Amino acid sequence: MLATLPENETSFCQQLCYGVLRWQPQLQAICNQLLSKPLKAKESDINALILCGLYQLRSMRLPEHAALSETVNACSALGKPWAKGLINASLRNYQRNQADFEKIVLQSETAQFAHPDWLIQQIKTDWPTTWQTVLNANNEQPPMFLRVNQQHSNRDNYIERLEQGNIAATPVEQLEQAILLDSPCDVYQLPGFVDGDVSVQDAAAQHVAATLDLAPQQRILDACAAPGGKTCHILEIEPNNDVIALDIDPNRLTQITQNTERLKLKATLKAADAGDIDSWWDGQHFDRILIDAPCSGTGVIRRHPDIKTLRRLSDIDSLVEKQQLLLEKLWPLLNTDGLLIYTTCSIIKQENEQQIINFLNRHPDAEEYKLNPEPATRRPAGYQRLPGENQQDGFFYACLRHR
Ligand SMILES: C[S@@+](CC[C@H](N)C(=O)[O-])C[C@H]1O[C@@H](n2cnc3c(N)ncnc32)[C@H](O)[C@@H]1O
Repeated sequence: MLATLPENETSFCQQLCYGVLRWQPQLQAICNQLLSKPLKAKESDINALILCGLYQLRSMRLPEHAALSETVNACSALGKPWAKGLINASLRNYQRNQADFEKIVLQSETAQFAHPDWLIQQIKTDWPTTWQTVLNANNEQPPMFLRVNQQHSNRDNYIERLEQGNIAATPVEQLEQAILLDSPCDVYQLPGFVDGDVSVQDAAAQHVAATLDLAPQQRILDACAAPGGKTCHILEIEPNNDVIALDIDPNRLTQITQNTERLKLKATLKAADAGDIDSWWDGQHFDRILIDAPCSGTGVIRRHPDIKTLRRLSDIDSLVEKQQLLLEKLWPLLNTDGLLIYTTCSIIKQENEQQIINFLNRHPDAEEYKLNPEPATRRPAGYQRLPGENQQDGFFYACLRHR
């Protein structure tokens, strides 16, 4: 959809969509007060238009009359000119009585923190002392981190190239290739991006390669690999290792191809369900297995605010089951003394430390391998980073050794 817009409108459209998704519970609470009765399900596009109008008025630096008239005019584009009056009256009502409508936001936690109730309760249960900080961090605009391709240059060198292009940046502690930009920019403004000199990757995800304790001549399985951020990082560290990258989704697998081609790296790619061993395994064991598991994504809500709208409480149990199945099926494929790294971009304990505690209880041949330096805060099993800590995404890491 973005690709169909003229270039000068894509950034506005992106800002609007992300903003409305980020603040949807708050915007909806105000919208509910503006409408004398809720709109029918078939008019959900008009409801969304009111949220877009409110977001523009509350948070975008636009002339108010332009925000109002453009939103009203969009009714014609939707083939619903009858709604013009309703939208005009609603948004003008908000403008006139803004202070009163803003008080509504403080009347429920859902609106105040702009998260669905089930998720607020879940985060409160798991993080009883820091839940408010977590929810607020989820509503921030995320920063942009880079990973310098160490096969092409080093970080100091690349920071100089950024400075020459007037892009301000700082190195990230504890990660040799990571850079934090002062403000996000288009990837094509980054020097050498098309030639594979650099990639965009949150620093939290960059800790994963270090946990693998990589060395030459290892055989590595990246079981849930697309779009290939971690596959490529692993290869940038040891380009001659035998890396098998699987993903269940063939369309997402093509993104790994694009990334390895741009970075000039080589992996064996297979579209397969990693848990269905017979469909892809050649019988040779691995020295390292990375399970960057499908998860709730609750650590990366600031990057993907649609998670708040799309995720349901009922998803969690089925995700935990899928993660457990992957751990069970892939564990026997590891060499003795080999390492299995389990990671998620979730902050829900059931998917993370509890998943690993349960696994260790079932597998006396597995032990937790303590990481030094620690990639995040030590937990009863594994390490957890909450969203916003050191400006990074929420992430869980556990490293298991096959005795
Ligand atoms: C968190 S993402 C992986 C991100 C990736 N490791 C990276 O760094 O770019 C999880 C991936 O797991 C894939 N996936 C889910 N279930 C799978 C399965 N049973 N076998 C293989 N891949 C699976 C999804 O298609 C998705 O691409």
